[in-house]
Amino acid sequence: MTLLSVKNLRVNLRTDAGRLRAVRGVDISVERGQTLCLVGESGCGKSMAALAMLGLLPPSAEWSADEMKLDGVSLLNAGQSTLSNIRGNRVSMIFQEPMTALNPTFTIRDQLCGVYRRHKGGNRAQARERAIYLLERVGISNARNRLDQYPHELSGGLRQRVLIAMALMCEPELIICDEPTTALDVTTQAQILVLLAELREELGMGMIFITHDLGVVSRIGDHINVMYAGRVVESGTRDAVLGCASHPYTQGLLRSVPRPGVNGLQSRLGTIPGTVPSFYQADPLCPFRGRCERKLPICASQAPPVRSGAGHHSALCHNTEISSIAGNSA
Ligand SMILES: Nc1ncnc2c1ncn2[C@@H]1O[C@H](COP(=O)(O)OP(=O)(O)OP(=O)(O)O)[C@@H](O)[C@H]1O
Ligand code: SF4
Ligand SMILES: [Mg+2]
Repeated sequence: MTLLSVKNLRVNLRTDAGRLRAVRGVDISVERGQTLCLVGESGCGKSMAALAMLGLLPPSAEWSADEMKLDGVSLLNAGQSTLSNIRGNRVSMIFQEPMTALNPTFTIRDQLCGVYRRHKGGNRAQARERAIYLLERVGISNARNRLDQYPHELSGGLRQRVLIAMALMCEPELIICDEPTTALDVTTQAQILVLLAELREELGMGMIFITHDLGVVSRIGDHINVMYAGRVVESGTRDAVLGCASHPYTQGLLRSVPRPGVNGLQSRLGTIPGTVPSFYQADPLCPFRGRCERKLPICASQAPPVRSGAGHHSALCHNTEISSIAGNSA
């Protein structure tokens, strides 16, 4: 069953240089117990889309959507108190910067128990027991003693585990992970990915996993939305998007991933020439046309159509035929 459904999400930011169009009509759908990966290069609007869904955009932002439903109930006209009840409770987020996401002036106990008591009530002992259970669950040894520590006393990997525990305190239905492993070494990164996949399975949560790392996507994603310049340019199951990439941008991303045994030390990795377009222009044409090796004359004059194939695989492009496989988990 669809847990989160967002249609035509738009986010604009007021800046000194004008209105920056960060998210330009994005659709997002997450099923219970499944992971949707939002993939794309830096600045393409992944975090802004996530923050809009939680009502956490910066004050300079304005947003709109045709639909935003959590478990079938519209959040479009929800007030701040409704959103505050949902945030950290039914939907929680693991933020992008593990070093700064925790409050340095409060102990781990204050931060974990505070979120629990705010949403679930209960007494101090109950909140403390839940915090200890979750700290142990995310692999932190000596959890009882850790409760009295401050964030600066923990390593980056431990802080990230504390953030995951905090996000799980109220048993959320949906968890949004914004590049939670980018700042970690590869060993800790692998442990955190395994842990998140296990917890998602165990708790039946839906998950949105934001990353620019296709290796991570191939390990954790059920569905993928590839974003470019504020739009979703390709969408589908993991097998469809990674196995039968249709959009020239997705194909370029895949060519730039090192693959042992395929592109060895002697061969060159692929690159995508050019730079992203300005975010200040309202431009209905294909945002990738300045960098695209497959562009057609029509790309310079008409907005790209959505081409669809099997298994909800689609791409926003004039020059693609989706000959898709349905993938592993439609
Ligand atoms: N507070 C802000 N004020 C103005 N512009 C902003 C603000 N935050 C982000 N932006 C701009 O909005 C656009 C989308 O940013 P966003 O943070 O969503 O990108 P992202 O895809 O998450 O990138 P990254 O992978 O680097 O985290 C970018 O062009 C960024 O420069
Ligand atoms: S619409 Fe045209 S320019 Fe854009 S990705 Fe497709 S072929 Fe390239
Ligand atoms: Mg981001």
